[in-house]
Amino acid sequence: MNVDAFLAEAGDRINAALEDVLPPEDSAPQRLSAAMRYSVLGGGKRIRPTLVFATAQCCGGTGEMALHPALAVELIHAYSLVHDDLPAMDDDDLRRGQPTCHVAFDDATAILAGDALQSLAFDQLTRAPLDADARLRMVEILADAAGHRGMVGGQALDLAATGVALELAELEQMHRRKTGALIEASVALGALAAGRTDPTTLESARRYGRAIGLAFQVKDDLLDVEASTDTLGKPQGSDQAGNKSTYCSLLGTDRARELLAELEAEAVASLAGLPGDTELLRDIAAFVVNRTY
Ligand code: IPE
Ligand code: IPE
Ligand code: MG
Ligand code: MG
Ligand code: MG
Repeated sequence: MNVDAFLAEAGDRINAALEDVLPPEDSAPQRLSAAMRYSVLGGGKRIRPTLVFATAQCCGGTGEMALHPALAVELIHAYSLVHDDLPAMDDDDLRRGQPTCHVAFDDATAILAGDALQSLAFDQLTRAPLDADARLRMVEILADAAGHRGMVGGQALDLAATGVALELAELEQMHRRKTGALIEASVALGALAAGRTDPTTLESARRYGRAIGLAFQVKDDLLDVEASTDTLGKPQGSDQAGNKSTYCSLLGTDRARELLAELEAEAVASLAGLPGDTELLRDIAAFVVNRTY
């Protein structure tokens, strides 16, 4: 199956499941429920759940086996975007082509919606159809990727770096944590969901995830410079307006593009350590570096 068809199918599967696990629109407190649904169901490429499904498939698992971790990573991602857009952070007013959560609702509701989405993510992992040890391992992986060692830590580094020229190694650390960690976790969770626990598979999966995870944020930085607000569905030039440290501001766009090609090659090389047909994962790596939004 080609990557576009797989993305579309994974997107449909995750959207239907998200609809089911989110609180109904009219459930109390109604404003919180509405904000949660608004932040999750209004589009998005669904690349993280797609990676969970694709890695599970490559490791011999089914979509059903991968559904709970796929939900969990998308819920953490959606929460991270709601908080990232807040006035105290990037202060953006457009996301996925719609007003950001705090604009459509209010700041306090956006903070609470993000908080609740994070809890719902961990709740989903506890329900995965695996033994208790495997579920615990998944909780550990997601907590590590989402918290101070991963995404939240990276966001703190991002805020601290505002208006500051970082060294390349510091910029890489920031990107690996704020965006790379959750993408790496998505791949690791996909392998675990398929019942794979052998170190070679898990380490190869993680190496692939680390490479495309860093590539994902390098590409995000490039798109912020090169794409249009209409295509992105979020404000073009937000990084420059916010004096952010990015690969483009530090290295320039040409070197950022070269780095993307190097990271894609690293991702593809890592696939040799995975057990099944890795063509789809290779195509997803290409999608990450060639995407237009
Ligand atoms: C945007 O992520 C934020 C980053 C971590 C770079 P995505 O580009 O995956 O956003 P959606 O989910 O498709 O809107
Ligand atoms: C986002 O980085 C990282 C997280 C949300 C964790 P950006 O601030 O560059 O993401 P966009 O460009 O607003 O989507
Ligand atoms: Mg940000
Ligand atoms: Mg932002
Ligand atoms: Mg960005």
